[in-house]
Amino acid sequence: MALREIRVEGDPILNKACKPVKEMTERVAELIDDMFETMYEGNGCGLAANQVGILKQIIVMDIEDGEQYVLINPEILETEGEVAEFEGCLSVPGMRGKVTRPERVKVRALNEDFEPIEIDADGLLSRCIQHEIDHLHGHLYTERVEGRLYRNDEEIEDEEETEDSAGEAGGEGSETA
Ligand code: NI
Repeated sequence: MALREIRVEGDPILNKACKPVKEMTERVAELIDDMFETMYEGNGCGLAANQVGILKQIIVMDIEDGEQYVLINPEILETEGEVAEFEGCLSVPGMRGKVTRPERVKVRALNEDFEPIEIDADGLLSRCIQHEIDHLHGHLYTERVEGRLYRNDEEIEDEEETEDSAGEAGGEGSETA
């Protein structure tokens, strides 16, 4: 395993669409291992392959529910509801911002054994999946952010605190993906 360099906002590869993975190879398996290591090193809960400079449709996630997720060629099948929450991104270091996304998501993908899987997700897992799939399509959460970006050490101003974000997670609960 090896750490890979995380690309940051402004790097054009973050705005490029990733290509489907056609087969599991040793190189792909090594990339997945490296992505986990790089994600943990950055204290993130998710990472997409183009964040380490590789234009392949691969996502790794660990939202501390005891499970590691590998999603290859993921595809959103259904969404439901809507929720606004703060999120951050390893490619936009030190910042967070509020984004409204569907509350629940159903996604189909291949796992690390190249077997088809389906995940019904809500909460942080749902948010993380959607954030990472945006990456694979060349989009950062900063394109969707409502209001302005905040530094992680900055208090959220009261007047920008809405009912949606004040209740469940507030400003402190934002995760970095
Ligand atoms: Ni991200």
